[in-house]
Amino acid sequence: MVKHFLDLHEIAKGDLRKIIDDGIAVKEARKGFPKGKVDADCSLDGYTLAAIFEKPSTRTRVSFDMAMRQLGGNAMILNSNDMQLGRGETVEDTAKVLSRFVDAIMIRTDAHSKLTELAQHATIPVINGLTNDSHPCQLMADVMTFEEHKGPITNKIVAWSGDGNNMVSSWIHAAGQFDFEFRIACPEELDPDPRALSWAKEVGANVHVTRSAEEAAAGADCLVTDTWVSMGDDAGDRHNLLAPFQIDEKLMEKAATDAIFMHCLPAHREEEATTAVMDGPQSVIFDEAENRLHAQKAVLRWCLGAIS
Ligand code: CP
Ligand code: NVA
Repeated sequence: MVKHFLDLHEIAKGDLRKIIDDGIAVKEARKGFPKGKVDADCSLDGYTLAAIFEKPSTRTRVSFDMAMRQLGGNAMILNSNDMQLGRGETVEDTAKVLSRFVDAIMIRTDAHSKLTELAQHATIPVINGLTNDSHPCQLMADVMTFEEHKGPITNKIVAWSGDGNNMVSSWIHAAGQFDFEFRIACPEELDPDPRALSWAKEVGANVHVTRSAEEAAAGADCLVTDTWVSMGDDAGDRHNLLAPFQIDEKLMEKAATDAIFMHCLPAHREEEATTAVMDGPQSVIFDEAENRLHAQKAVLRWCLGAIS
C-alpha cells in the first residue's frame, strides 16, 4: 500500500512515534557533517521528490530540497504557475503523470481537496506541505523540538494563543495522537475547524477552547502561536480581534517557569508575539525551523520504505 503523509489523525500513532524517533536519530547521525554532505547510510539513493508549490514558502521549500540531498536523492522544486497544472491540467492527470517520473510528491496548496485528490490518483506517496486546513510536517518538527527541550510530550500542556487556523488543526491532531493537553485561546470569530474539534471529541483527546489567553497559558509547558493572517486570508478585523491574544513577556510569565515558546514562522513581530519573546531565553523558534529538515527526512524515509 502507498504510504501518504496527509494528516496526523490518519496515520497510526505507532508510525508517528517511529517517524519522530527516526528524525532524532538521523539528526544525531550527521552531527558535524557539512550541510551538503550525504548521510552515511545514503538511504534514499536514487529517489526523486517533486515538490509543488501553489503558495510561497521558505522553510518547506529549502528543508525538503536539503532533506532529499542529504538522503542521497534529488528534489525537483516546481512552481505550479510554471506547470500545466497552473493552466488547467487536472489534478488527476498531474498525479498520474508525475507518478511515472518521480518517486514521491510533496504539495503546498490552498484547497485541501487538491491534496486528497492528488493522493487518490498518485501511485507514489504524497506529502502535505501545508493546505488551508492543516500543516502536519510542521507538527512533526514541533513535537520533535518540544521533546528535545522538555522530554516526552505525553501528558504535557501546550497552549495556543491566536488565530484558530490550519496550524491549530494539526496541533489538535497531534494532541490526540501523542496524548498531550492542548488548550486553544482564540476569539469566537476565529474558532478552530469544527471537524478537528469533533475528531478530538470522538477520540477523547485532551483539547479545550477558551476565550482567555491567560487561562490557557496558566502553568503550560509551551506557549505557541502563528501569524494572524494566513496565506490566502483577508486581514479583515483580525488585528483587532487578535490583539488580546498576543504572546508577550507578561503572558509567558503565566506559563510554567521553564516553559518554551514556539512559532512555526514566518512571524509578524509585535503582532502575534513580541520580539522580546521571540528572541528571549524561552524561545526555541529556530530549533523548530531546523527540525523541519530532520523530521521531514524521517517522513520521506517512512513514505519510501526506509523505516519499517
Ligand atoms: N513554517 C513554514 O511552513 O514556513 P514556510 O512557509 O516558509 O515554508
Ligand atoms: N498559518 C500559516 C502557516 C504558515 C507556515 C499560513 O497558512 O499561512
